[in-house]
Amino acid sequence: MKQGSVIIRGVGSYLPRKILTNHELASMVDTSDEWIRTRTGISQRHIADANEVCSDLAHMASKNALADAHLQTKDIDLLIVSTITHNMVFPSLAAILQAKLGLRNVMSFDINATCSGFLYALEIAAHLLQNGNSYRCALVVGSEKLSSIVDWEDRSTCVLFGDASGAFVLEYTPAEHVGILDTVLGADGSSPEKLYCGALQPTDVNTKHFMKMNGQEVFKNSIYWMRKSIEELLKRNHLKKTDVACLIPHQANLRIIQSLAQSLDFPMEHVFYNLDTVGNTSSASIPVAFAQAKSAHYFHSGDYIVLVAFGGGFTWGATLIKWP
Ligand code: UT7
Repeated sequence: MKQGSVIIRGVGSYLPRKILTNHELASMVDTSDEWIRTRTGISQRHIADANEVCSDLAHMASKNALADAHLQTKDIDLLIVSTITHNMVFPSLAAILQAKLGLRNVMSFDINATCSGFLYALEIAAHLLQNGNSYRCALVVGSEKLSSIVDWEDRSTCVLFGDASGAFVLEYTPAEHVGILDTVLGADGSSPEKLYCGALQPTDVNTKHFMKMNGQEVFKNSIYWMRKSIEELLKRNHLKKTDVACLIPHQANLRIIQSLAQSLDFPMEHVFYNLDTVGNTSSASIPVAFAQAKSAHYFHSGDYIVLVAFGGGFTWGATLIKWP
């Protein structure tokens, strides 16, 4: 293994222009702004236009991340996209994005690990940069058009989700102990019925496949697995909770985030959340929140940052970062 580290050189996000408020949802299904805000913490979400596909969102976030990194497309050696809402079965969203961005003919592929997908993608990219000889910079994108798999007549799910894309530009550096330090990931596929979506390309063209969820089961499992991931991550890096300056969790539900913080005895002032304005955007959730936290100067040089996610599968993970 090479010495050195992998740093986050640039970050970018993109939110579609159209906003769907709780009040508007209340005119579509039997719900209320009060119920949604008190049970989830969400006030609004962004929804892509009918002609705006997932790769369009990814394209915008990627351009913003490249600009933030002060790099050009020719500098990118590897592209990984995490998504569950690509507009077609194949080619991959990454292949579409490679051409759209005008990247060189670099290795480009998608992964599907639902809401934890961005952390899975970061882990893969960081190892390739750290150990491979062919890569110096990677573009890692989480992009979702969840509005395309939401059942707009199901009040138990349609109030939760939104569309967004977020991207990181990662770079190998010979410097030691900085950037992405460690990641814990896991999966348990024994109860897929608790959160799933059927085929995107049904054989019966009249059948639309929507996301289905057992909210309470997902709620309990998410707190359990995110807490365990963080505890394991801190333990094996010999860190205490008080060493962590900023926790950026997957943005599913404010009550999940508060319960997680409480179960870890971690102060909410050190937890970044933006789900009030964007809702749950699956694998776009963490990079979008991270980009907003960075703009808001939520963390500083030398800070330890923990990212944590949980999603359908189930899948989960936590990543430890030392900001350069
Ligand atoms: O990204 C990972 C995936 N997702 C998550 O992490 C989400 C995890 N789960 C949750 O966030 C929560 O379970 C929900 C927000 C989905 C639901 O909150 P809850 O407190 O678990 O509510 P519940 O499912 O126990 O439902 C309570 C009541 C029910 O009515 P009854 O049976 O008590 O009369 C529901 O029918 O609330 C009703 N309900 C609603 N009422 C108004 C469910 N959805 C709505 C709604 N508006 N949108």
